[in-house]
Amino acid sequence: MLSNHYPLAFATTYNWIIAALIFLIGVLIRLYFNSMHAGKGKPYWTWAASAILFIVIIWLSSAGRPMPAAETAMAPTDAKFAGSEHFAAVRDTVLGRCSMCHAAEPAWEGIRRAPKDVRLDNDASIAAHAREIYLQAGRSHAMPPGNVTQIAPEERALIVAWFEGAR
Ligand code: HEC
Repeated sequence: MLSNHYPLAFATTYNWIIAALIFLIGVLIRLYFNSMHAGKGKPYWTWAASAILFIVIIWLSSAGRPMPAAETAMAPTDAKFAGSEHFAAVRDTVLGRCSMCHAAEPAWEGIRRAPKDVRLDNDASIAAHAREIYLQAGRSHAMPPGNVTQIAPEERALIVAWFEGAR
């Protein structure tokens, strides 16, 4: 029943406690029906106990959440590339011509992870890879491969101006 449709139940830090509590709720439900059918009255407290356990499960599923990825924070040495007057335009170029392959989850058919672990899908990583972007797509035509995403000569010139102006 706890199939992989419910990642908050099975793929968080305290999943083992969650599994135990769900088992316990099952016991409580059984106890309610056993008592009722044995003619010993209806132990409504089991409803309240189940509800409380369920609230604890909801709380546990978001407790111990992983920290946001460190790469969203920018290193001081990269800040000058991000602070360049050309940065906004370069970022748009890189997002439009490179990030379909160079992303955490690439959108390009056949590419399953960012090639050579070069991720170019956010400001911090674009600034951190300034030199590689300059060499691969500004100074040379190595990227995009075969110019599949049709980067324009003006966009390459912009990458050169950005890197050489800010280094
Ligand atoms: C169609 C998918 C695709 C696109 C679009 C693409 N790349 Fe790549 N990139 C690759 C692949 C594949 C490799 C690995 C090449 C290899 O193994 O030599 C790579 C490698 C790289 C590397 C590492 C090079 C090395 O040898 O260390 C850099 C830097 C890079 N790309 C930058 C860019 C930039 C900048 C753009 C956009 C202007 C871009 N790429 C667009 C697929 C792509």
